[in-house]
Amino acid sequence: MGGSAVDSAIGGEAMKIFLDTADVQQIARWLDTGLVDGVTTNPTILKKAAVGDVEEAATAIAKLIGERPLSVEVTSDDPDEMIQQAQQFASWARNIVVKIPVETSGGRPCFDVIHHLEDTANIRVNTTAILSVGQAILAAKAQASYISIFWGRIADEGHDPFTIVESVDRWLMRWESSSRIIVGSMRGAIDLQRAAEAGGHILTIPPELLEKWADHKYSRATVQQFVRDAQAVRSPAVMKG
Ligand code: E4P
Repeated sequence: MGGSAVDSAIGGEAMKIFLDTADVQQIARWLDTGLVDGVTTNPTILKKAAVGDVEEAATAIAKLIGERPLSVEVTSDDPDEMIQQAQQFASWARNIVVKIPVETSGGRPCFDVIHHLEDTANIRVNTTAILSVGQAILAAKAQASYISIFWGRIADEGHDPFTIVESVDRWLMRWESSSRIIVGSMRGAIDLQRAAEAGGHILTIPPELLEKWADHKYSRATVQQFVRDAQAVRSPAVMKG
């Protein structure tokens, strides 16, 4: 994404927006707006989109979004199987990033898998299910390209996701890490604004929430007024064809 006047005015990289969905129609629609820089999925998202064949769906989305990254999550709890799945997913398209959980469901850390994929297998990793500063820092140390911090789930537990994202951003900057923070698990418009303010590099947003963020009932009423009043004013005819 090219730097705009706004980027250079504040001196930082522009915040990116990913779509947290596997709904191809929604992805195509939002791509046309120029707002979308990538797509993230997880098994729950694939289930919601009624995806029958993961390879078919991932290949179609990867093609649709061009060079932008598409995250696809491994489904195994076994480190060797994670590596095998990651290699398989990465072979489907150049822009596939493999989501590896920060730990297995039994609590085994997955930093060795992350490090192997990034350092030896040349596969980009999005470390997922991150709920603490420590997990984020360790994922960055293991060289994950992306670290996905689950904003809503941190708040569910009574903690403040703002301070976690802010602290991770500061840590990455101080140690000049190239890992990028994806803030996911977004539940409302205020989460998006706070996550951006906290220093999230990328917000991954379900399309329904992006739609809500873009809308304001008073904007609609204002445009309705203009459309109504325009009927009383002679305007140039719209050329058709
Ligand atoms: C993003 O990468 C995550 O998988 C997703 O945002 C999780 O959201 P949830 O907490 O609403 O399931």
